[in-house]
Amino acid sequence: MTPGIKLLQLLDWDSPRQKARLREELAAGLLLPQATIAPKFFYDPLGSRLFEAITELPEYYPTRTEAAIFSEHLPAIREALGAGCTLIDLGCGSCAKAGKLFHAGVLPARYVAVDISVEFLRDSLQNLKRELPAIDMTGLGLDFTDELKLPDDLPPQRRMFFYPGSSIGNFNPHDARAFLERLAGQMDVTGGLLIGVDLIKEKALLDAAYDDALGVTAAFNRNLLRHVNARLDADFDIGEWQHVAFFNEAAARIEMHLEARRDIAAGWPDGSGRRIRRFAAGERIHTENSYKYSPDGFSTLLTEAGFADIRMWTDPRGWFALFFARQGSTRT
Ligand code: AVJ
Repeated sequence: MTPGIKLLQLLDWDSPRQKARLREELAAGLLLPQATIAPKFFYDPLGSRLFEAITELPEYYPTRTEAAIFSEHLPAIREALGAGCTLIDLGCGSCAKAGKLFHAGVLPARYVAVDISVEFLRDSLQNLKRELPAIDMTGLGLDFTDELKLPDDLPPQRRMFFYPGSSIGNFNPHDARAFLERLAGQMDVTGGLLIGVDLIKEKALLDAAYDDALGVTAAFNRNLLRHVNARLDADFDIGEWQHVAFFNEAAARIEMHLEARRDIAAGWPDGSGRRIRRFAAGERIHTENSYKYSPDGFSTLLTEAGFADIRMWTDPRGWFALFFARQGSTRT
């Protein structure tokens, strides 16, 4: 079944308890005056594949820019992580980024891959294990934005959290700081964090990256409705919802929404009966924020979260940044 890898804490989207929890979460967001659905609902198997497709779009610069920074600064990154660490990959997706590091000779003693997309995680990790049988690999199928419980047998030393791709942008800055603080609390002074951060840039470039000509990002956004229909028995009429994405300069964030093309209702089961929310034509469901930072802004955030010895690498155009920081020694 899964030779050589351990899979732990797998979120079972189909268990009655999980379903009830997720439906409650869905209801809480949908019944707000400004309806919202959390971005974690993007990532069913199709959503994970659509995201992989996004990373290949000409307009979507973050993935390839980050990859270029990795290749350019590999020796420094290798030295920062050190050999024999435990690499904890948050939102590993296809595990491609970690795999590239391993093939380039950055070899951890143990690899812990975390992702909410459980089936995708299992396949990705199995494939990686086949390529790199010498590395001890564990998969955690959970929502780490909720709670990150690491395996009990994980040594406390040299825990290196790997959070590439700028997914930290899904948190607002206040929650990002709290999340990073929690990571700092899960390592000792020999631990660290390697994190990718998308930088503030010209609006036209950002708008295009999240509203591509092919419509892959639109499909990714609308797939969220297909996912909640399938998993939580909601009845969104997917064809009636339109992708909207733009850079909100005042808030330094990309916003993604789904906008109703006409007056429409959507329902979902709720314990005893069915909940309904009506939307007027033009009304939106907010599905994602993707915050962008300045180099100084993110450094400050890391410091406030309890990190020290901050290093940053960027690309020649200054579009994306990779930060490495150690846990500040004043913490326990
Ligand atoms: C996976 C959160 C980093 O914000 O750029 C891509 C998700 N959404 N296109 C991002 C996403 C639309 C992506 N992250």
